[in-house]
Amino acid sequence: MAFEIIATGKAVPPHRVTNDDMAAKVDTNDEWIRSHTGIGARHFADADTACSDLALEAAKQALIMMTGDDREEALKEAALSLDMIVLASATTDYYGCPSTACLIQDRLGAKNAAAMDITAGCTGFIYGLETAAGLLGINPGRKRALVIGSEILSRVIDWSDRGSCVLFGDGSGAVILEKTDAPSQGPDRRGLVRSILGADGSGAQHLVIHRGGSRDPYKTDEVVAVSPHLAMNGRAVYTFAVKAVADTITALLEAEGIGIDSVARIVPHQANARIVQAAGKRLGIPDEKFFLNIEEYANTSAASIPIALDELNRSGGLKKGDLVMTIGFGGGLTYGGNIIIW
Ligand code: COA
Repeated sequence: MAFEIIATGKAVPPHRVTNDDMAAKVDTNDEWIRSHTGIGARHFADADTACSDLALEAAKQALIMMTGDDREEALKEAALSLDMIVLASATTDYYGCPSTACLIQDRLGAKNAAAMDITAGCTGFIYGLETAAGLLGINPGRKRALVIGSEILSRVIDWSDRGSCVLFGDGSGAVILEKTDAPSQGPDRRGLVRSILGADGSGAQHLVIHRGGSRDPYKTDEVVAVSPHLAMNGRAVYTFAVKAVADTITALLEAEGIGIDSVARIVPHQANARIVQAAGKRLGIPDEKFFLNIEEYANTSAASIPIALDELNRSGGLKKGDLVMTIGFGGGLTYGGNIIIW
């Protein structure tokens, strides 16, 4: 039994915001942003677009790839074949209830699918993939899962902090994970073969949306001076992230008993190109091994890895049988990685 990614999709809002556009609003400049992060642009959703809108579009793209048929009836039929929808996000449509996965389930007409959200910061997609595989594996009646990472981070940007506001963008990526008869071990193994998931909650305050939860709810008649936003301790997150990336790559290689040469591509969470380069340097891994598209999209949190997988997949950057490693880190603090035989 194997858990194979059989299709991918992505959705990014059309409104592209360059570093120069940011400099018109905040005290920053293109040179600083590029040299400190590798970011050249980000895409921001318009005011009417929520997390589920981007997620729905990414899911549709994946379902169309799965069936090779973009007609509305084919999409409806494909949605009925889903047993599970897992959506990872830090910027869901609603606070706590209902889950955004349930909104997708309804809008796709995926009547046979259970649906739930996952909160694991920027590691959300990695957690989501492992969760979906576990849920498919434990029940013979389940065959197919839709796993989505989707974010509208522009809605929680702290515009008073130039160190963080330039980092984030909006987007969504999705994959269809299917339980197949292919082997999950041995030379012909396929699909998701290993994951490492971890957390260090002692760093929770380094990436946090303080207001609006049960710890610090809004009060009746309170006048809110600043909308809820993501507060970040950039230095602490940077240090954590470089170690998390390096340690997770090492742990996955050791657990598999392979060297880096066996890995076709590493798809890291796209938070900061410097984090990836520093971790790569520490391990002696050449930059070309890492797939980076941060220059165009900035940090889209849980969406960054599935967006990258979709871009690689559609551009022919992944061949059947390639060993792909995803590596993530983020709010929680969380970290993790998957090994996928494409
Ligand atoms: N434009 C211009 N200057 C800026 C700036 C901006 N957008 N943001 C910060 N600066 C300035 C600072 O004010 C500071 O100036 P000073 O030396 O005169 O005081 C200088 O740049 C250095 O700031 P510092 O915060 O030390 O920069 P840094 O090299 O640590 O880089 C981050 C900052 C945010 C890029 C880096 O810490 C980082 O990437 N952290 C991880 C963030 C992350 O990935 N978060 C999401 C995780 S999922």
